[in-house]
Amino acid sequence: MKFVTSLGAGTALWLFAALNVASAQDLNVLCGVDEDWCLTMETAFEAKTGLEVAMERKSTGEILDRIRGERADPVIDVWWGGTGDTHLQGAAEGLMEPYQPAHSEDALPWAQNFFQMSGGKASGVYAGALGFAYNADILEDMDVPTPSCWKDLTDPQYRGLVQMANPKSSGTAFTVLATLIQLLGEDEAFAYLSALARNIPSFTTSGAAPVKAAARGETGIGISFIHDAVTQKLAGAPLVIVAPCEGTGYEIGAVSIVSGARNLDNARRFVDFAMSPDGQATGAASGQNQIPSNARAALPPAAPDISLIRMVDYDFATFGSPEQRRRLLDRFDKEVLQGASAVETQ
Ligand code: F6P
Repeated sequence: MKFVTSLGAGTALWLFAALNVASAQDLNVLCGVDEDWCLTMETAFEAKTGLEVAMERKSTGEILDRIRGERADPVIDVWWGGTGDTHLQGAAEGLMEPYQPAHSEDALPWAQNFFQMSGGKASGVYAGALGFAYNADILEDMDVPTPSCWKDLTDPQYRGLVQMANPKSSGTAFTVLATLIQLLGEDEAFAYLSALARNIPSFTTSGAAPVKAAARGETGIGISFIHDAVTQKLAGAPLVIVAPCEGTGYEIGAVSIVSGARNLDNARRFVDFAMSPDGQATGAASGQNQIPSNARAALPPAAPDISLIRMVDYDFATFGSPEQRRRLLDRFDKEVLQGASAVETQ
């Protein structure tokens, strides 16, 4: 009291406001899904709990790098969204905290398996298949054939017309790399990617950027998750979405708590919400089209039916290993990026 009186009313008010802002930092989340979903989730969780969340969108590999960098003194509490391979890599590096969230009993079998595989350190939130989408107007204007298989994309007729992300930053592109290895074998997959890189003028940071660019007519063909292409198509883009004829891979998008999180209780509340039907409904509410992991969550009406897509039996154990990640990214850098002298752009 004495302290306040001696400072004067104006200063005391300012001090009170400043303290309030500092103590409003209840939870720090890095978000790996689309910006629109990040914002909708943040708003819904804050409304439900009264907590204040600082949330930032980044690509999956960038999130892993950030959490690694903070290992000694973590600022981030929760990693929500982004491809499961990379959550498994983080868990194997000791960066994630074990937590069995509420609603686990309602998780679909693929999410239950994923949780077991992570050693109880990451929970599956959604699933989605990989593919590509082309802008029908652009390909027609350029008088080039329409692609339906992975192998079509290396055709020199598509020189400069294909976009894909860099697997170092993007979980989507890491899934492309892992998928092609599972379809073709490793050496053939790298030979394929080197040929494909000749058609790619630049590798993006984010995995959905290629289909967004195709939707805007800035490229002809974007390699991304099919659900991201569906979102663009529903917004009116002249996209044709392709599940490649050879078969394709898929992701299990995940949520994890960072080991040593300062706001552990709030982090657990966030993960519980992320696994609940209401939390998962924020995806459809923000126009997203992944398949929710909670059997009680409503399926977005336009979510692709992955039972109709020819799918590889995705090997999460192998591609979720930190050693494989390091080795494959190194090989991609040497053989594909440097080989094609491709320029990475945002
Ligand atoms: O845009 C949503 C999404 O495709 C998620 O389904 C996925 O987990 C994430 O983006 C991957 O993003 P990135 O490839 O940028 O790491």
